[in-house]
Amino acid sequence: MIKEKGSLAVVGTGIRTVGQLNGDTIARLKTASKVFYLVADIVGEQVIKQIQPAAESLGRFYRLGGARKEAYDAMVERVLSAVRDGHRTCFAAYGHPGVFAFPTHEAVRRARAEGYDAIMLPAISAEDCLFADLGVDPANPGCVSHEATRFVLYRKPIDPTSALVLWQVGSFGDPTYQPQRNRGRWIHLLVERLLEHYSPSHEVTLYEAAIFINCPARIERIPLGALVDAELSPATTLYVPPALRDELDDETCGALSIRSEHLKR
Ligand SMILES: C[S@@+](CC[C@H](N)C(=O)[O-])C[C@H]1O[C@@H](n2cnc3c(N)ncnc32)[C@H](O)[C@@H]1O
Repeated sequence: MIKEKGSLAVVGTGIRTVGQLNGDTIARLKTASKVFYLVADIVGEQVIKQIQPAAESLGRFYRLGGARKEAYDAMVERVLSAVRDGHRTCFAAYGHPGVFAFPTHEAVRRARAEGYDAIMLPAISAEDCLFADLGVDPANPGCVSHEATRFVLYRKPIDPTSALVLWQVGSFGDPTYQPQRNRGRWIHLLVERLLEHYSPSHEVTLYEAAIFINCPARIERIPLGALVDAELSPATTLYVPPALRDELDDETCGALSIRSEHLKR
């Protein structure tokens, strides 16, 4: 018998799986011959298991205190082994599978490099939930997203006229796997960097989107200066609203014949 050529579909469950799992993703899960998943909660796991009882968790590659990068490499290798074995492989991750996610992108890159068909489907990310829950429109006045540790390590430029979304504040400065809530050991370094552009009283939001129906999101507004003592979790995203108003460039406005009263403020 000729072995079928393997393929890979990387999909996302959304943040609140019940309600946010979309039709495309369900179809991919149903039609796969091998399903892997990396989700953050028990309901997400149960929903996947209902669709594919033999689905395999990749969470077992995490080791408490072990390097996250090592776990990701092992996950990618496990997924690729199924593709090479000829499976119609589906890799489901929570949120959007391509947003602040290494193993999903790496699995697609590796599968394609080895000559297999590989696609990624979009889904609802934590930032999508944040825009809805906090009433933030990234178009106005603009919004920048960074992984919190990279943001400080690479001294990414700060634009206080735009909103700033910082991901993975709960594991700031720590490349190891730590699933529990904590008071960030190194978080003062992030606060110091932000204080170069924002005042200690600037209000920031600790945000955790609801992952279950009828459970509230965590929307905790605190002064920036209090972030050093805040309780953080692996699901905490930090929202920093703009501190300054945009300055209109009158010359460009004139050249484009745009009247300032027609612009949204
Ligand atoms: C490895 S990234 C995964 C993001 C995911 N792929 C997505 O689409 O949202 C983990 C980070 O996402 C953010 N995150 C995950 N779950 C969240 C939630 N329920 N609410 C807010 N942010 C969340 C946090 O910043 C967390 O540190």
